[in-house]
Amino acid sequence: IPVDPFDLVIFGGTGDLAQRKILPGLFRRYCSGQMPVDARIIGAARSEHDSAEYRAFAAQAIREFSGGRRCEDGTLDDFLNRLEYVTIDARGTDGWEQLASLMRDGVVRAFYFSVAPALFGDLAQRIHEHGMATEESRIVVEKPFGHDLASARALNRTLATHFDESQIYRIDHYLGKETVQNLMAVRFGNMLFEPLWNSQYVDHIQITVAETVGVGGRGEYYDKSGAMRDMMQNHLMQLLCLIAMEPPAKFDPDAVRDEKLKVIRALDPVLPHHIVRGQYGAQDGEHPSYREAVGNPRTRTESYIALKTHISNWRWAGTPFYLRTGKRLKARSSVINVLFKDTPHSIFGEEAGRHANLLTIRLQPNEGITLQVTIKEPGPGGMRLIDVPLDMTFSDALGPEEADFPDAYERLIMDVIRGNQTLFMRGDEVEAAWAWTDPIIAGWEARNDVPKPYDSGSAGPTDAEMLIQRDNRNWRGIT
Ligand code: BG6
Repeated sequence: IPVDPFDLVIFGGTGDLAQRKILPGLFRRYCSGQMPVDARIIGAARSEHDSAEYRAFAAQAIREFSGGRRCEDGTLDDFLNRLEYVTIDARGTDGWEQLASLMRDGVVRAFYFSVAPALFGDLAQRIHEHGMATEESRIVVEKPFGHDLASARALNRTLATHFDESQIYRIDHYLGKETVQNLMAVRFGNMLFEPLWNSQYVDHIQITVAETVGVGGRGEYYDKSGAMRDMMQNHLMQLLCLIAMEPPAKFDPDAVRDEKLKVIRALDPVLPHHIVRGQYGAQDGEHPSYREAVGNPRTRTESYIALKTHISNWRWAGTPFYLRTGKRLKARSSVINVLFKDTPHSIFGEEAGRHANLLTIRLQPNEGITLQVTIKEPGPGGMRLIDVPLDMTFSDALGPEEADFPDAYERLIMDVIRGNQTLFMRGDEVEAAWAWTDPIIAGWEARNDVPKPYDSGSAGPTDAEMLIQRDNRNWRGIT
C-alpha cells in the first residue's frame, strides 16, 4: 500500500548513512510500489553539488548498496527523477530560501537529521524560521542520541523548543529489523509462551549481539563511545525491553513505549563485578588491533561488554539477564536465548538425564526460532532423554522470497511518512536508558578500569565466560 505523498529532506544527504542505507532503502520501497510516484527527496549538505550530480551519487549508492533487488526497466531513472539537491549551511543562511521554495503544500514533510547532534538545534531552528514546519512535519534523528543523561536531556529540550514529541522520530534501527518485531508477535500472538514468561519458569535470559567487523573507519566516533554507549545503551536495551515488557493493551506507540519504559526503570544498577569489558587485539597481521584501528595506543575504551542485570519487578525478580556485545568476534550472530527451568522432578530417574527447554530467537543471520524439546532417545535402550530442536528457520517456513526481509531503514522511513511512532524511541525512554548507563560508566572512570584484551576472532575475553560460569551457567551461541 503506497504511503501518502511526501517531501523528504535528508540533511547530511551526501553522508555515509544516506549512501549506504537511506537512498538504497528508499529506492527499494520505490521498486516495491510503496513510495508514491510524486514523492520527492531532497538531499541537503554543505558540499557544492547540483541535482544532476546528486542523482549520479544516488545511482552509484543504489548500485553498490541496494542488495541486488531487481526492478522493472526504467525504475531507477524514475526514482532518480524524484531527487533534488540543495547546498546548505546548517549554521548560516545559505541555501535555506531555496530549500523552503522547494517544499510543497499539502504533503507530508519529513526532515531527516543525518548529521552530528551538535547541529540538531540549528537545523530545527532554521526549519522554523523559514516557515517550513507544519503540523504535518516530522523530524527524524539518528543515534547517538546524547552521550549521557545530561546531553540527552539537553537534546530533548532543544528539539522540544520547535517540535512536539509526536513529531520527533528517534531511530534505533534494531527496532526496524523484521525479526525484532517478531519478538512481539511471538510473545503476544501465541498462547504458548506468555504463561511461562516469568521468573517461575524462566531460569535466565541471554542476549548476544556479536559482530565480526571491527571499528573500521569510525575510530574517532567509536573511541569516545565504546560498546556500552554504541550498542548496549540502545540496541541491546531495546531487545531487553521487548523480551521483558508486560503486554501492552494495544500495539500503539505510547502503549508499547510505556511498557518498555517501565522495564528500563525497573533495571537494577549493575554491580562492578557483574561487568566485563574487553578490547580486541590484532589478527595475524590481517586486521589491526583496536588500539591501532582508533590510533590511540593508550585508549581504555571497550570494544566488548558483557554484563549481568536483574529487573526488579513482579514478573522477573530473581531471573538474571546476561547481555553481551562486541566487535571482531568469531561470528556475526544476534540471538536471544530464553532458558527455562528444569522440570521439578524427573519421573524417569536422574540416570535418564535432565533437560531444560531452550527457546532461541535468531535475529540475524539465518532468522528464525528454535525450541529445544526433550524426547526419548529412540531405540530399545530404555528411557533415556535427549534434546531435539523444533526448528522454524523463516526462510524454510516462509520461502526465500518472503524471508527476504526489508532492511530496517526501509521500514522505519515508511513509518515516519505514515506517522507511526511505535518503532521509535520516546524521549523519556532514551533518558531512562542513559540514567541506567551513566553510573556504570562513571564507575569505570572512577576506578580507571582497563578493558581485558581478547583475541580477534574469539568469543571475547575469558572473564566473560567466568561471569556466567560463576552462576553455573554457560553462554549459548558463540562460545
Ligand atoms: C550501529 C553501531 O548502531 O549498529 C555499529 O553504531 C554496529 O557499531 C551496528 O556495527 C550494528 O548493526 P547491524 O544492523 O549490523 O547489527
